[in-house]
Amino acid sequence: MKALVLSGGKGTRLRPLTHTMAKQLVPVGNRPILSYVMDHLQAAGIKEAGVVIAPETGEEVKNYLQDGSRWGLSVEYILQEQPLGLAHAVKTAAHFLEDSPFVMYLGDNLLGSGIEKAVRRFEETNMDGLIFLKRVSDPRAFGVAVLDEQGQLIKLVEKPKEPPSDLALVGVYLFSANIHDAISRIKPSWRGELEITDAIQTMMDMGHRVEGEVLEGWWLDTGKKDDILQANAVVLDEYAARSLAGDVDESSTVEGRVELGSGASVIRSVIRGPVVIGRNARIVDSFIGPFTSVGDDTIIQDSVIQHAVILEGAQVRGVKRVEDSLIGRNTQVIKGGNHSDALRLMIGDHCQVEV
Ligand code: DAU
Repeated sequence: MKALVLSGGKGTRLRPLTHTMAKQLVPVGNRPILSYVMDHLQAAGIKEAGVVIAPETGEEVKNYLQDGSRWGLSVEYILQEQPLGLAHAVKTAAHFLEDSPFVMYLGDNLLGSGIEKAVRRFEETNMDGLIFLKRVSDPRAFGVAVLDEQGQLIKLVEKPKEPPSDLALVGVYLFSANIHDAISRIKPSWRGELEITDAIQTMMDMGHRVEGEVLEGWWLDTGKKDDILQANAVVLDEYAARSLAGDVDESSTVEGRVELGSGASVIRSVIRGPVVIGRNARIVDSFIGPFTSVGDDTIIQDSVIQHAVILEGAQVRGVKRVEDSLIGRNTQVIKGGNHSDALRLMIGDHCQVEV
């Protein structure tokens, strides 16, 4: 079993962050989304992964994953010149996939449970496709599946205006080599993309065996700011552990599950977990509330921050309430006047905001 990780695309919904970084590398819980994907592949015993990259962000993805050995994987990079769809990405990777069955994992999807069980189930049966479904409140942004009374898949449709069910397709798929034939039969959709959803439907129409499984754990597609904040909260809730490698002075309080990176310092401040604070961060005269990730080399001073993601090198000074915010790398948010209203921000890399 090989893996195909999709880390190309444009990430337009996360601009301005994605002007300067790949959306799959946006951190949640201070770790790139892609790292959780790689963890799942490793746990499932997969040894070979093809990683689809885009010309704009490919180098950054390569720099992060390197040769994959950190996850016990050998990684081959596959350049997709244009984001012409998920099925197009599979087509582009045909030389890597050969006739092997594979798990396709969208690099911006986060799953609470691993994929080991699914990989075993797929390997032990003669299925051609195994897909995961999750009930969502607004399925219009996803592929949507219809099941019959016995739970068998009967129909799939990509981003329907009027969804026939509330079961969204999760971005993890298991395929046999028959997917390639199905892809060769489909045409681009109304949005000009070769949709994997259409290819799976074609496999079903061709009489191949495709099954759907409703996912038990949580699933997050990290397309937009609020998705990232939600993903950050869920990941911190699940994974944050108390470990204080940095310094906490005597007038500070650190409550609950707080990870403090090495070289970081907490001075006259209160940190209430779950919170992750990166290496060499300085937290001075501030309150960092639950569900906040603060990146490496940041400075937080005279500020109150909660339910936020602050990327590396950012500075927040004198701001009495920052919440539900995603602040890009090397950004400065500095209060000048006397306004005390809460702020809700989405600011790109290298911005400077004075409020
Ligand atoms: O997240 C689950 C959804 O993912 C499914 O419910 C949909 O059926 C499926 O089509 C897909 O929809 P999105 O519109 O959210 O896909 P997106 O364009 O965000 O791309 C998903 C990942 O694949 C992302 O990491 C970028 C990468 N990608 C995307 C395209 C279109 C590529 O590597 N190449 C591409 O050509």
